[in-house]
Amino acid sequence: MVCKGTWPQVSIMSRGLISLVILLLSVKRLHGEDQVTCVFSEDCIVPCRFQPGSDEVIHWVKLEDQDLPVHSYYYNTDHLEQQNQSYKQRTALFNAQISKGNASLLLRDVTIQDKGRYKCYSSTVNGNKESFIDIALNALVQQVEIQLSDDIITCSSTNIYPEPKLTWSSNSPSDLDPGNIKVSTNTKGLYNITSSKEFIKNQTNICTVSSGTINKTASLRLEAPVNSSSSSVVTILCRVPHFDLMTFDLTWMFNHTVPILTSTYTNSTPQMHVEDQWKKNVQGVSESRSLQLHKLTKNHQGTYSCKISSARETHLVLTSLVVNTSDKLSDDLRIILGTTISVAVVLGIAGLAVYIAHPKKASKGSKDELQTEGPAAAVPESESAASQVKAAGQNKSTVAVNK
Ligand SMILES: *[C@@H]1O[C@H](CO)[C@@H](O)[C@H](O)[C@H]1NC(C)=O
Ligand SMILES: *[C@@H]1O[C@H](CO)[C@@H](O)[C@H](O)[C@H]1NC(C)=O
Ligand SMILES: *[C@@H]1O[C@H](CO)[C@@H](O)[C@H](O)[C@H]1NC(C)=O
Ligand SMILES: *[C@@H]1O[C@H](CO)[C@@H](O)[C@H](O)[C@H]1NC(C)=O
Ligand SMILES: *[C@@H]1O[C@H](CO)[C@@H](O)[C@H](O)[C@H]1NC(C)=O
Ligand SMILES: *[C@@H]1O[C@H](CO)[C@@H](O)[C@H](O)[C@H]1NC(C)=O
Ligand SMILES: *[C@@H]1O[C@H](CO)[C@@H](O)[C@H](O)[C@H]1NC(C)=O
Ligand SMILES: *[C@@H]1O[C@H](CO)[C@@H](O)[C@H](O)[C@H]1NC(C)=O
Repeated sequence: MVCKGTWPQVSIMSRGLISLVILLLSVKRLHGEDQVTCVFSEDCIVPCRFQPGSDEVIHWVKLEDQDLPVHSYYYNTDHLEQQNQSYKQRTALFNAQISKGNASLLLRDVTIQDKGRYKCYSSTVNGNKESFIDIALNALVQQVEIQLSDDIITCSSTNIYPEPKLTWSSNSPSDLDPGNIKVSTNTKGLYNITSSKEFIKNQTNICTVSSGTINKTASLRLEAPVNSSSSSVVTILCRVPHFDLMTFDLTWMFNHTVPILTSTYTNSTPQMHVEDQWKKNVQGVSESRSLQLHKLTKNHQGTYSCKISSARETHLVLTSLVVNTSDKLSDDLRIILGTTISVAVVLGIAGLAVYIAHPKKASKGSKDELQTEGPAAAVPESESAASQVKAAGQNKSTVAVNK
């Protein structure tokens, strides 16, 4: 039996290392069948073994209409003169392992074109062998993006192989709108997939992108709007149905693009980073990931989004927040008093009441945002400041919230 490809034999004969006779008479000729799955743009080891022996000859060939020389080794060194350009500087053998019968090929920065059937030809003084290995390729679904714009929800994912599928679902099985799905391939042969459909307002909208045996999901839901006043603490929920992850990333954003905080949970233990410009307003994040804000102004009105992401899933919860800052004089007064009371309670400084009687001094020295010009000055000085404070505290229910 003669080896089908002609060039390996030419090189063998030309160097006179192993005679053609030995090659032809060789009885030890095994056919191994193997498959390896390589990941796009990563390195991949294509396995091949042979019976150890001296004077090794190794040829890696890709089997196509015209076989492509991938990597050759003889005279104890690599011979890449014949190598096809598309493998240039991407192949290596484990030279130290060759004497142990390891002819495995290291293929770097794997491309879609690397997919296919390969032959590993090995020969020693003891005989020769051909093994066949199929390289399959994966480009895993990295991230599924989901977004909402004008009642249209869009889900997308990029750079995937093999061809992905996308499905929509919701917590109601009756919603069967499959969406408008578009698949495209880029120059590297990878797929992008995207789909848009009408957003179902009172549901969790779920998108699943799958490729091969792997799938990833993204969900989006809208919470009811939340009202708050500048004096109260407001809690914005981040409710995700059937949530049982313990290791994930949490991000709170304002108006879709302004980061508020990020938190990395490892086995349910969070490590949180709050953006500087939000430190004043973020009171904390609850165990259920809810965001607690205070000292809000009209500028904080907008959409708050909570994003949870793990290796397999992404969840987005959107809530719009209305900040109620009434301009009415009496309201302002109550807010000022209410806020000051809560500060006083927390600090336990009864003497703080004096500030209320002299608001101009207070506003000068305080870093607080309270606007204490007109309204607070209207507090009658004749009355006891302490009793004024107490009365205001009983009348205004929002005071209790700010405990
Ligand atoms: C060959 O050697 C490489 C590098 O040590 C190793 O990763 C690989 O598993 C070996 N292959 C076989 C088939 O033994
Ligand atoms: C390398 O292989 C490709 C096909 O994959 C072929 O088009 C090209 O001509 C080959 N290059 C050389 C130098 O043989
Ligand atoms: C696929 O997505 C990538 C990343 O977003 C983008 O750069 C590329 O242009 C897209 N390709 C096609 C064909 O849509
Ligand atoms: C969602 O709203 C639709 C109509 O607006 C209603 O028929 C449906 O029962 C609602 N589903 C839930 C879970 O509230
Ligand atoms: C996604 O994969 C999981 C297992 O990894 C499987 O249970 C589930 O049915 C898959 N979902 C879809 C929509 O393919
Ligand atoms: C929020 O305020 C609006 C009016 O601005 C009102 O219609 C709505 O019911 C309020 N929502 C809550 C939850 O209090
Ligand atoms: C946030 O978005 C809301 C609604 O689109 C807008 O009215 C508001 O001005 C935005 N706030 C900031 C600070 O950009
Ligand atoms: C703002 O708050 C005041 C006092 O709590 C209330 O009377 C008023 O209706 C609220 N306005 C809105 C738009 O919610």
